[in-house]
Amino acid sequence: MIVVTGATGNVGSALVRALAGAGEKVVAVSRGEKPVRLPEGVDHRRADLGEPDGLATAAAGGEALFLLLSGELGVTGPAASEMVRAIEGAGVRRVVLLSSQSVLTRPANPAATRLAELEAALRDSDMTSTILHPGGFYANTFAWAESVRGQRAIYWPFGDIALPQVDPSDIAEVAAAALCSDEHSGKAYTLTGPVAITPREQARDLAAALGEQISFTELTRARALSAMKEFMPEPVAETTLSILGTPTPDEQLVSPDIETVLGRSATPFSDWAARNIAAFR
Ligand SMILES: NC(=O)c1ccc[n+]([C@@H]2O[C@H](COP(=O)([O-])OP(=O)(O)OC[C@H]3O[C@@H](n4cnc5c(N)ncnc54)[C@H](OP(=O)(O)O)[C@@H]3O)[C@@H](O)[C@H]2O)c1
Repeated sequence: MIVVTGATGNVGSALVRALAGAGEKVVAVSRGEKPVRLPEGVDHRRADLGEPDGLATAAAGGEALFLLLSGELGVTGPAASEMVRAIEGAGVRRVVLLSSQSVLTRPANPAATRLAELEAALRDSDMTSTILHPGGFYANTFAWAESVRGQRAIYWPFGDIALPQVDPSDIAEVAAAALCSDEHSGKAYTLTGPVAITPREQARDLAAALGEQISFTELTRARALSAMKEFMPEPVAETTLSILGTPTPDEQLVSPDIETVLGRSATPFSDWAARNIAAFR
């Protein structure tokens, strides 16, 4: 049995579909009621990973576990050693951790600390683990959906700075491969898209998928920070803006790891835009 935390999220929902489609027995974990769109045959388990027994409840009976630290859990919550003890105590043998490229490129940032501690605790455990280090997600552009729907407009900082962001579905496919075999044990993968793309180019791809013009207005960093703080912890927003505005050379590099693991190129943003355009209509 494979346990998927964050199962209602960008990566987790695609991962549940991929595993169920491959015939695996899957338990999808989230804090709410059973999501209506779970594939047939997938069980649902309610657990809050921020609560003392949350992870043990989520992981019970699982042979493999997909773990992420979403939202507040990225900056606060049970200690890494406690989390790993709970997972191991539940009988899990193999863990895939959705970490972040910023753990490698910006180790001093507060949002990376907990992930780095969790990576170390997993490496020190008797379980096998695979660490995923994605760059920014294409799905972050869902933050534009409301203004595109209402005004055919995008307001965002750093319009001309290119980064090789990544499709969450590609991350999910890599996670599925690592959850289903020991071939990826002990490995860490940097996951990016096939090319670096700017926000203005992403806006053009969305406009093409929509078949309508979308205006792009560049925000100052301060304006962008106050908007981002509404839906993510401030340290995460600060780090995100530093990556978007002043990326390191490593953050600008396209990684070969998706192609190495999946045997196909990473998905371009234009494909993600076409698949998700209903949210922007
Ligand atoms: N976005 C980026 O650009 C980026 C880049 C690098 C790394 N990452 C990493 O990716 C992760 C986010 O992945 P995502 O975009 O797939 O997630 P997401 O779409 O933000 O969804 C979050 C998921 O986590 C679940 N969740 C949140 N708090 C929880 C808790 N206390 N207990 C149990 N479940 C909880 C949510 O379930 P319910 O709300 O339904 O309970 C939901 O399924 C973050 O950990 C981040 O470090 C993101």
